[in-house]
Amino acid sequence: MSSVHVCEVGPRDGLQNAKHLMPTQAKKAWIAALADAGVREIEVGSFVPPKLIPAMADTGEIVAFARQIEGLKVVALAPNLKGFQRAIEAGAHKVTFPVSASHAHSVSNVRMTPDQMIEEVRRCAQFPHPGVEIEGAVATAFGCTLQGNVDEDEVVRLAAALAGFCDGVALADTVGYANPAQVKRVFKKVQSEIGPKLEGAHFHNTRGLGLANALAAYEVGVRSFDSSMGGLGGCPFAPGASGNVITEDLVFMFESMGVSTGVDFDKLMKARELLVRGIPDEPIYGHTPLAGLPKGFRATA
Ligand code: COA
Ligand code: ZN
Repeated sequence: MSSVHVCEVGPRDGLQNAKHLMPTQAKKAWIAALADAGVREIEVGSFVPPKLIPAMADTGEIVAFARQIEGLKVVALAPNLKGFQRAIEAGAHKVTFPVSASHAHSVSNVRMTPDQMIEEVRRCAQFPHPGVEIEGAVATAFGCTLQGNVDEDEVVRLAAALAGFCDGVALADTVGYANPAQVKRVFKKVQSEIGPKLEGAHFHNTRGLGLANALAAYEVGVRSFDSSMGGLGGCPFAPGASGNVITEDLVFMFESMGVSTGVDFDKLMKARELLVRGIPDEPIYGHTPLAGLPKGFRATA
């Protein structure tokens, strides 16, 4: 049976952009419920200066907690060597680095040009990191709210550079500009350059195309998808960015196609209740949670 891998990024991409703070205990309960629903990989936070993003100040504690959950791959984002060292110390299994293909977004987000950021990730890859996976995520790979167009050749160039020293590479539509035709074209271009090192797809639902883009990526062979419960998400340093593709709807789409996600929908709804309880004033989205599963629906496994 075909299957896909879902990485829940709500605790990082979602909460970094939320207007309200989720208390540490509530984050832990939510993450535990997501894992209980069958989510095997969760990006639980980022190691950035706490002054810059106060919602991520407790990431060390959250990583240490999440590590104790059996079978869960614990991911954290880091923007530099200091963040990488903090992530290793806390016990993250995988660290993802945002490398923007948009020069303007790169400088706004990490105060480095794309090439300086590549060098920073290379420095991290050279730092001892036994057992810790490194992912290079090419951000704003489909367009940028600050700069507009992003050159596809630049996306390929950065992905190829990252593939030289990262375990895996992902392409991210940070601001929700992508369309399915573009997704197929860019993923194919990068695939032909770096082959199976291209793993993940990270889409935002800003213009309602999140699922269409995920399906387009699936059709060109992508099997690993980031998504965010309740459609929370967005980059505070990319104006106009809004929520990620919605985990609940992504799981429904694949399961209804006969593609296994390993996620139990009823338990996912329990995790959604904990999300709402943890951050009650934040608007959350999702079609399937509102409509319910279709009569006679059967999950793949
Ligand atoms: N974690 C904690 N503290 C950090 C840090 C990290 N990863 N990186 C730097 N710092 C601290 C430094 O020690 C320094 O502290 P001090 O003032 O007490 O000496 C201070 O932050 C400034 O350090 P500097 O290296 O000059 O960083 P900067 O101000 O140029 O900012 C980044 C660069 C990369 C740290 C910052 O732009 C960043 O975190 N960007 C990511 C933003 C983000 O999360 N975006 C959304 C996800 S893609
Ligand atoms: Zn994102």
